[in-house]
Amino acid sequence: MRRKITQCVLREMKKKGEKIAAITSYDYLSTKLIDEVGVDLILVGDSLGMVELGYESTLPVTMDEVIHHLKAVTRARPNAFVVGDMPFMSYQASVEDAIRNAGRFVKEGRAEGVKLEGGMRNADAIKGIVRASIPVVGHLGLTPQSLLQFGGYKIQGKDNLSAEKLIEDAECLENAGCCSIVIEGVPWEVAREITETVSIPTIGIGAGEYCDGQILVMQDMLGIYENPLPKFVKMYDQIGDRIKKAVSEYIKEVKEGTFPELKHSYSIKKKKKKNGKDKGSKDSP
Ligand code: KIV
Repeated sequence: MRRKITQCVLREMKKKGEKIAAITSYDYLSTKLIDEVGVDLILVGDSLGMVELGYESTLPVTMDEVIHHLKAVTRARPNAFVVGDMPFMSYQASVEDAIRNAGRFVKEGRAEGVKLEGGMRNADAIKGIVRASIPVVGHLGLTPQSLLQFGGYKIQGKDNLSAEKLIEDAECLENAGCCSIVIEGVPWEVAREITETVSIPTIGIGAGEYCDGQILVMQDMLGIYENPLPKFVKMYDQIGDRIKKAVSEYIKEVKEGTFPELKHSYSIKKKKKKNGKDKGSKDSP
């Protein structure tokens, strides 16, 4: 039996130098598969807006949409620690919004933690959520919900001043009570400094090898999402091509009439003849 991963286990893993393997998931079946092979943390990311719902960015994603996917993921009862990603405007307007919405993730979606993008500006919201006994994961660097402010998806912390700010933000997240920090799209040197500075685990995406763990978006690493991918994504397979190949073959066979074969079909029940012999199709499956 695999151990249930909790925020405490993640902290232990950092102490022992055991790397954390995290991945996004948005549905029941994928969650079953990735949990069976031992992923440590599953993020129901707001990236679902792009890879599942076809939005151009994560900005339009709503609380209800994330909760819908969270429910599917947690129905798989994974051993991995399940984190729900708080969508744009679910925590920015007030601390009360942040606490109530984090509570909805736990009560309705059965999340085990929530993730918020941003540094010290979220300190009060994080303290409030942690006070409500909900584990919080921070998220620093190239935070996609700040797309309009950044003027695009730009690597953050490239100069000394912005690197220092990221390190201060990380300390602030730890002091506010975060149990872990996702670091996205920052130079590896900055991510290493943050990882060495804070005692909570860091989980990198486009942040180099020195983080305590790594996370990738499932559709990106499996080669399903066809948009151009950032250089930090390693494609472990090209499932998109394999889906197209299989479905093309199916279409061809349906058009040619070579699918279904008799072995894929049912036939009516054989009738017993009076002399005891079977009557009916000899090809019955
Ligand atoms: O929404 C998401 O998938 C994320 C990861 C990229 C960390 O926030």
